[in-house]
Amino acid sequence: MRYDFDRVIERRNTDSSKWDSVKTLFGSEDVLPLWVADMDFPSPAPVVEAIAKRVQHPVYGYTRVPAGLIEAVVQRLDRRFGWKVDPSWIIFTPDVVSAVNAAVRAFTNPGGKVIVQSPAYPPFWSSVSNNRASSVVNELKLVNGRYEIDFDALERDFQDPAVQAMILCSPHNPVGRVWTPEELTKIGELALRAKVPVISDEIHCELVYKGHRHYPFASLSEELQMNSVTCIAPSKTFNLAGLHAAVTIIPNETLRAKFNEARAGIMGGVGLFGYVAMEAAFRYGDEWLEQAIEYIEGNRDFAIKYFQENIPAIVPIKPEGTYLMWLDCRNLGLNPTELRSFFNSKAKVGLNDGPSFGPGGEGFQRMNLGCPRSILEEALKRIENAVKTL
Ligand SMILES: Cc1ncc(COP(=O)(O)O)c(C=O)c1O
Repeated sequence: MRYDFDRVIERRNTDSSKWDSVKTLFGSEDVLPLWVADMDFPSPAPVVEAIAKRVQHPVYGYTRVPAGLIEAVVQRLDRRFGWKVDPSWIIFTPDVVSAVNAAVRAFTNPGGKVIVQSPAYPPFWSSVSNNRASSVVNELKLVNGRYEIDFDALERDFQDPAVQAMILCSPHNPVGRVWTPEELTKIGELALRAKVPVISDEIHCELVYKGHRHYPFASLSEELQMNSVTCIAPSKTFNLAGLHAAVTIIPNETLRAKFNEARAGIMGGVGLFGYVAMEAAFRYGDEWLEQAIEYIEGNRDFAIKYFQENIPAIVPIKPEGTYLMWLDCRNLGLNPTELRSFFNSKAKVGLNDGPSFGPGGEGFQRMNLGCPRSILEEALKRIENAVKTL
């Protein structure tokens, strides 16, 4: 079937974090929200149908992991990425952030250190501090409009004996890189040499644009696989974040036991509707996904052209994957407080503020492209008009 991604669906008054929190977060109701990472698109029809069917049975009691879901995860990872996963490696978690927290807790002692590549998805920083560890910042380098890994710095970071884990974001939020197998292998080798496990957050792995391909970190070699925790979810891919359903894959039995010990009694599983939606999405969501990626890629190209032609002072970093776009606003010449207030109060567009992503975030903002083009266009017009007043 053909999905209509241009259709604007009113999300206000649904307790949407993105739409119903704008006054609290950005100061007024008329701010157009392009911040938190969910999309303004309806989920794939087979997902909606599967949930609707289950709703008809009016008993919503405790629910075990459906056997068909485990099979769907195994088949999907093989079909999409050629990664052969054993069912015993799979752990269902309510979300990816709690899985990353549990993994940090599992592998670090208080006072230990965790390598985080900056700018970073903000909950990575708190996953470290929550567990009384500290972050070692491996700052990405912006080279000719594209972010690269500073491998010399990373090698030095791994030499610190206090480092006990690394969090990898692949594809990378917010800079939009889809790491190449060479880059991933290099990271993996440094981690192996340091005997430090890699927690690979691959939640954006299925949102990759033409000309790029996602390689699961763990799929690159047996050694890397045995030194990894991989977090995936249908939440970004199929826009199901409100259902809290995610998957953690840990091939190494010792690491898996540590992870399970760290989460025991604290982290629950997935809810009934999360299981139902996840299985339907993984099995039957591809038609929707293909069209969604094509549409968002169109949004990406539209926005880049718009910035180039009408707002040249803001330089978008072209994402290779993810529906997030990192905007270099340093040419506006505003300090961090002024930049935030510029977007919130003058442009009235709600973005994610660069400094919340840590070192390297100052002067940047993150824009969410997962919306109908008319909303994106309205946001760009608002930014253009606001820039004219500077
Ligand atoms: C890299 C990354 N990890 C995790 C999440 C959140 O996932 P979850 O809602 O499953 O915790 C996001 C959401 O933006 C993300 O970008």
